[in-house]
Amino acid sequence: MKRLLKGGRVVDPANGVDGVHDLLIEDGRIARVGRDLPVEGATVVEIPAGFVVCPGLIDMHVHLREPGQEHKETVATGVASAVAGGFTAVACMPNTSPVNDNANVTSLILARANEANLARVYPIGAVSKGSKGELLADIAELKQAGCVAITDDGHPVATALLMRRALEYAGMFGMPVIEHCEDPTLKGDGVAHEGFHASSLGLRGIPGAAEALGVERGVLLSELTGSAFHVAHMSARASMRAVRKGKEAGVRVTCEVAPHHFTLTDEALASPIPYDTNVKMNPPLREAADRDAMLAGIADGTVDAIATDHAPHHYDEKKVEFDRAPFGIVGLETAVPLALDRLVHAGLIRLPRLVELMSAAPARILRVAGGSLAPGSAADITILAPDLKVRIRASQLRSRSKNTPFDGWELRGGVAATIVGGRTVYVNPETVMGSGVI
Ligand code: DOR
Ligand code: ZN
Repeated sequence: MKRLLKGGRVVDPANGVDGVHDLLIEDGRIARVGRDLPVEGATVVEIPAGFVVCPGLIDMHVHLREPGQEHKETVATGVASAVAGGFTAVACMPNTSPVNDNANVTSLILARANEANLARVYPIGAVSKGSKGELLADIAELKQAGCVAITDDGHPVATALLMRRALEYAGMFGMPVIEHCEDPTLKGDGVAHEGFHASSLGLRGIPGAAEALGVERGVLLSELTGSAFHVAHMSARASMRAVRKGKEAGVRVTCEVAPHHFTLTDEALASPIPYDTNVKMNPPLREAADRDAMLAGIADGTVDAIATDHAPHHYDEKKVEFDRAPFGIVGLETAVPLALDRLVHAGLIRLPRLVELMSAAPARILRVAGGSLAPGSAADITILAPDLKVRIRASQLRSRSKNTPFDGWELRGGVAATIVGGRTVYVNPETVMGSGVI
C-alpha cells in the first residue's frame, strides 16, 4: 500500500523542512519526503498549490466526558470532532465520572478510542484519587495503563505538598504534571475576569493573580524537584511573566494557551450578547492587556503549545443564568481557523511556528510519537488549506456539544484533510480535496 502526496508545501519544523515536496506513505508510515519522488506503484494524491502538508496536529488538552457525561461528548464523538478539526491525536483530561485515577478508567477510554479508530487518544490521569486533593493516585498504575501525564484539571492540585509529591512521582515515570493554575481562595465563587465588564454586569470576578499564584507555585516546585511542570490554559499576563522568568532560570516549565484566550477579551461578556454563557470558561476571558500578553508569548517563544481546552457542555446546561452555567467551550473544530487567521495571516507568526505550537511541541511535552514527518514515523498528517474561507457554524460541529462563542465567525484558513496512520479519516468537502482521490 503506497500513496504519494504530490506537491503542496511541506512544513515540518522538527526536521527543518519548509518547501514544495512530495511525501510517500507506505504501510501506514512515512517512507520518504523529497522533490519529484517516483510514482510507480503508488496511488497519487495531488495536493493543490498553496495547501500545506504538516505533521498531524496534537491537542494536548481536551475533555472527552466519557465515562459518565456522555450527553456532552463521548470518546467517539470527541475524536470525530478532533479529526474534523485537523487533529490526529488528543490528550484527554481525567475529570470524567468516575475520575480517571485508575487503570480501569484509562483502559475504558483506550478501548473506546480503539473502537472509534479516528484520532489517537492519550489519556491523562488524575494527580489525586477522585481529584479530591487528598491522596495521590497510583501514578505507576496510571502510567502502566497508558496515561501520558497527570493533572487534577478542573481544579488546581490542592496543596503545595501534594504538588511536590506529584512532581516527584511523575518525574520518576518521565511524565509532566499539568496544572490548572488557580488559587482557590482568590478565585472564590467568581465567574468572570475581575475588571470593568464583570463589575458593570454585576458578575463576581476572578483576578489574573489567582492564576499567576498557581504558576509561581508550580515553577518553584518544579525547580525544587527537577520535574517537568506544564501550565494548562494560560490566560493572565502575570502568569506569562512567571513562566518567562522560570524558563530564564532554567526551570523545566512549559505552557499552553487556548485559542479563545488569544482571540477574545472580557468585552465579550457585554457584547454582542450580554451574559452569553458561551463566553464563560475557566480561566475566564481576560482584559486586552492579558490577551496581548498571550499573543506576545506566542510570538516570542515563551508559549510552547496551543491547546483548545475543548470543554463540551449540553445546550440545556449552558442555557441558564450566567452565574449557574458550567465553565467551558468546545474548541477542536475552531482552533485551526482561529490560529491561521489570527496568528499567521495577522503576521504574528509564520506557519512553521504554528506547526511547532500545535504538533511538535505537544508531542515533545507529552513524550508521545508524532510532531515530525521523519521517514519511519507513523503517517499522521494534517493537510491545511491556509486560504480557505471558513464560516463557523455551531450547528454543523461534529462534537456532541455546540457551545462555542465563535458561531458565525468568518475566518481565513482551514483543514483540508486529516490522515492517521496512513488512513484518511477526514476530508473537508468544502475544499477541492473533497472531490479528489485522498
Ligand atoms: O472551562 C473549563 N472547563 N475549565 C476547566 O478547567 C474545566 C473545563 C470542564 O471540564 O468543563
Ligand atoms: Zn482547567
